[in-house]
Amino acid sequence: MRIDILTILPALLEGPFSDSIMKRAQEKGLSEIYIHNIRNYSSDKHKNVDDYQYGGGAGMVMSIEPIAKIIEQLKAERKYDEIIYMTPDGELLEQSISNELSIKNNIMILCGHYKGVDERVREHYITRELSIGSYVLSGGELAAAVLVDSVVRLIPGVLNNETSALTDSFQDNLLSPPVYTRPPEYNGWKVPEVLLSGDFKSIDKWREEKAIERTKKRRPDLLDSNEN
Ligand code: ADE
Repeated sequence: MRIDILTILPALLEGPFSDSIMKRAQEKGLSEIYIHNIRNYSSDKHKNVDDYQYGGGAGMVMSIEPIAKIIEQLKAERKYDEIIYMTPDGELLEQSISNELSIKNNIMILCGHYKGVDERVREHYITRELSIGSYVLSGGELAAAVLVDSVVRLIPGVLNNETSALTDSFQDNLLSPPVYTRPPEYNGWKVPEVLLSGDFKSIDKWREEKAIERTKKRRPDLLDSNEN
């Protein structure tokens, strides 16, 4: 999968993809991530990428011109399955969306700033708008990093153990059960007996019960959506 990210703050996106699973996915050739600096596409002599909003009001708006230039250039090179705009007023990101995106070939992601982008960018280029939660970040970069991480780890072959993504929280609308590792007792706090029993049928049953119990307590809304 190829992912192109358009940003005015490329430095913010250097870290998240250069370690661990994101790094491995790129080394294995399963994902290619390209960061494009929107400022390089500004024809303004000061390399400005924003302007005052028509109608007045506080806050700058990202201009259409540099963004359109870079999107047109990339679209001329290949077909994009989605051109996504990260914005707090977008559709709420959920595991099902990450699953869906993980089987695409080419995705472009636009990170917003200030008051947002000129509405004409959204109308004419953007195919999907996503929010990572009901709060406002300073810009779309951290949201884009969250989206890319959640998608790339699902690309077949990225995780060593394929089943580990399938048993993640949310994959079946349930949160994950508690997990433990050695030692079996620390400070008098014991690992539940059943996990040490070697009886895998009982272990599976215990995990399912705990997953349901945790979901009921913390995210009852997920159980409601199972009934739909
Ligand atoms: N940009 C600013 N806040 C955001 C959010 N919550 N989700 C996605 N993009 C954003």
